[in-house]
Amino acid sequence: MSLFALDDSTCQQLAESHPTPLFAYDKKTASAGFHALRAVLPQRVRVAYAMKANPFPPLLDTFAALNASFDCASGGELRHAANLDLPPGRMFYAGPGKRDEELALALALGARIQAESWEDLARIDRLTTQPVAVNLRVHPASGADEGNRIIGGTGPSAFGVDEEEAPTVLTRARGFAKVQIRGLHVFAASNQRSAETLLQTHAMVVNLARELRAFSAFEWDQIDLGGGLGVPYSPEETPLDVAALGRGLEALLAANPWFQGELVLEPGRFLAASCGLYLVRVLRVKESRGTRFVILEGGINHLLRPLLTGQAFPVKAVGKVGTTRPATLAGPLCTSLDRLGEVMLPELEPGDLLAFGMTGAYGFSEAMTNFLSHAAPEEIWVAV
Ligand SMILES: Cc1ncc(COP(=O)(O)O)c(C=O)c1O
Repeated sequence: MSLFALDDSTCQQLAESHPTPLFAYDKKTASAGFHALRAVLPQRVRVAYAMKANPFPPLLDTFAALNASFDCASGGELRHAANLDLPPGRMFYAGPGKRDEELALALALGARIQAESWEDLARIDRLTTQPVAVNLRVHPASGADEGNRIIGGTGPSAFGVDEEEAPTVLTRARGFAKVQIRGLHVFAASNQRSAETLLQTHAMVVNLARELRAFSAFEWDQIDLGGGLGVPYSPEETPLDVAALGRGLEALLAANPWFQGELVLEPGRFLAASCGLYLVRVLRVKESRGTRFVILEGGINHLLRPLLTGQAFPVKAVGKVGTTRPATLAGPLCTSLDRLGEVMLPELEPGDLLAFGMTGAYGFSEAMTNFLSHAAPEEIWVAV
């Protein structure tokens, strides 16, 4: 798999016909990624695209046309999903803090809600006029993708009901007039490229579901395994073996005949990252006390992830060859936090174009655009 969705001459053309900085998303790459995953998963696995990775409307349309379901985590995302005119069952709504009006919207749209607390359950029961199936999101006590800053490991968490409290919550929930807990949601991995590690986590979740469903008054029809399917951010990182993941999920279903419902995967990064490129020009090059700073038109105002995770996006100098040497990529903002990575690049001069790959997920969607009041980058859809 390529870390860069588009070749150099396409990048040049796009940067000449649009103002930079610019996010370009390639339809072919997005569709191929979806097909590649869907093709290896058992029928009883539903794929719900986690819209937070990138809610760009043509990308959502593309996934909707390929029969994707959608994981939403705000009223805004629910409204994006509503625009897709989805058949029932293809929308989910999660989040540790939900407003009454967001819950009411989710109910009106028929989204499957991931209840994350006793209060969520009680509010849903109050807000709905008819019986409604929900999943209970549980924060596991062990076995999760530990050390993970995004999901938070197995320590204290704002997400879900702590596993040790889940039996009590499920038992009490039998008293609701309308809310019916019919599934489990556990999200315990992030950017995980090992199919084996993902499958260990998934097996842990299915085991937990087997134990917990005894406390619910209803049969369970869903086990939502969350997102977390990883992608490479450098040529040294091996891609996730999705075929192995598919085989493992098939085996997991076969080993758990008590469960005849569907598994749900909510990949965001895996489905959106590879289709995106961030195109940005060099403004200046400064040699400072032995360090080459390459100062760009955009920085953490457009790509925040490197600062949050310490991991750079892959980058290439478009149309340039030659010996590379270390470069510190700085944005135009008046803060030393504005860094996009320490990378190897050829000699560069003002006006040269850089392309950052894998920026289709948690790129612009996670940016801090208003900081320093630079213009927002354009986002374009490349559908040839
Ligand atoms: C509930 C939920 N599902 C899915 C995802 C998507 O995760 P990823 O992009 O790692 O697949 C997230 C990400 O934070 C999430 O919170």
